[in-house]
Amino acid sequence: MLEFEEGRQGLRRLIYASRFTGEGDFGEVVRAIVSASIQNNRLVDVTGFLLAGEGLFLQWLEGPATAVEETFARIAQDKRHADLVTIGDGAAERRRFRDWNMGQHRLGAADQALLAEVGLEVFNPAGLDAERAERLLTRAGERHLRG
Ligand SMILES: Cc1cc2nc3c(=O)[nH]c(=O)nc-3n(C[C@H](O)[C@H](O)[C@H](O)COP(=O)(O)O)c2cc1C
Repeated sequence: MLEFEEGRQGLRRLIYASRFTGEGDFGEVVRAIVSASIQNNRLVDVTGFLLAGEGLFLQWLEGPATAVEETFARIAQDKRHADLVTIGDGAAERRRFRDWNMGQHRLGAADQALLAEVGLEVFNPAGLDAERAERLLTRAGERHLRG
């Protein structure tokens, strides 16, 4: 049965960091990426969160393993960013961002405290380990929800 196969496949969660390659306005590029992501991810049951700031990205993708792999393979080919570093990749028991096909937060001056929670003075996602990246994305998501 299809439901059984999908259930057995399990959830996968992937976190990576990357750098905006600089073509066009960063804010507009982020908006375009998020709007395409919401549409595409909904179709394949992928959810997650994109943290963007200082020309850098930190993204969490979660969903059926094949869908996450295929989505990430497409993302990795995208010329709008480079220097992709996988920070965490593996099976997950449950979703962290089930309400968002792609939630997002643009880091601004008011986010110093958020960064400080994971020991950062500036947003430097490629240097984070999985535990701190998870914490940063989770906190950013909570903050974003509060508005
Ligand atoms: C930082 C970053 C994050 C992205 N995240 C996603 C994503 O979660 N889902 C997605 O479908 N595309 C994502 N993309 C865009 C893909 O690379 C690709 O452009 C898009 O999936 C193509 O979709 P389209 O054919 O509908 O335009 C991301 C791109 C970048 C640079």
